[in-house]
Amino acid sequence: MNVSTLQQKITALKQTKKAILLAHYYQVPEIQEIADFVGDSLELSRKAASTEAEIIVFAGVYFMAETAKILNPSKKVIVPDVNAGCSLSDGCPPDKFEEFLKNYPNHVVVTYINCSAEIKTLSDYVCTSSNAIKVISTIPEEQKIVFAPDRNLGNFLIKETGRDMVLWEGSCVVHEAFSLEKLIRLHQKNPDAVIVAHPESEAHILRTAHYIGSTSGMINYIKSSPKTKFIIATEHGILYKMQQEVPDKILIPAPSKEDNTCACSECAFMKMNTLEKIYTCLLDESPEVFLEQEIITKAQHPIQRMLQI
Ligand code: 13P
Ligand code: SF4
Repeated sequence: MNVSTLQQKITALKQTKKAILLAHYYQVPEIQEIADFVGDSLELSRKAASTEAEIIVFAGVYFMAETAKILNPSKKVIVPDVNAGCSLSDGCPPDKFEEFLKNYPNHVVVTYINCSAEIKTLSDYVCTSSNAIKVISTIPEEQKIVFAPDRNLGNFLIKETGRDMVLWEGSCVVHEAFSLEKLIRLHQKNPDAVIVAHPESEAHILRTAHYIGSTSGMINYIKSSPKTKFIIATEHGILYKMQQEVPDKILIPAPSKEDNTCACSECAFMKMNTLEKIYTCLLDESPEVFLEQEIITKAQHPIQRMLQI
């Protein structure tokens, strides 16, 4: 089946089954085009919590679909590919994290939403890259904090908030792939370009960036900036939405360390989702996300705390 036939079939199936298709900005354009809602992880969580659809098809990665299930447990949440994981989530196993926490009694546990449902049950607060500073600022000054699983976002937060935080040593394979040397050379060739970066990037990349923010934060920044040229240090999929929002501006993907053929970084997990897989998952209403009620109840608390902030 070609792209437009698949898109039409998915759109028709969504209507008959009263389903909503939620897609992260890192999805390929043909998925974003037919999604009912495209957003960053915070916006997608809010949408998942408020939807009246009977089925949520989540085109993102697994922890995002789990979050949708936690927030809306009576709905059927299905995913195009159950193997669409995340290096941050996979790099923080619950048993190891539980052991780690034993070293830090009396610490408040703040976890980045990029973690499994089990890790969320061990958390006091969940945050995303767009609200992490806000979430941390609600915690009393004298309170020590454990932050997991992203050490780059954690170090950025320590710098921004001046708080005492113990970090779990996790990272995003995509955002750690940017080359500082190539980025500096690219900027020397384009001295008028503004560098924007996602806070999952390494500290040296963040130090060269003129603006640091979440996926939606970057889009809003570029939209409101009077400048016309930008170098983007985040996953390549975001360029589709960004370019739609600012058709007259020049967007250049930041170069990766390894990749000589493509200047951009792509999240292989996000790109596991395809139109074909969305179609079959909607048709079969499978694979479905299942979570034990106890996990849902415990994980709801830190996520709801975040959504109320
Ligand atoms: P956002 O919270 O900006 O959507 O980021 C999610 C993510 O996985 C970034 O790699
Ligand atoms: Fe996870 Fe990184 Fe992919 Fe985001 S880009 S889903 S943090 S692996």
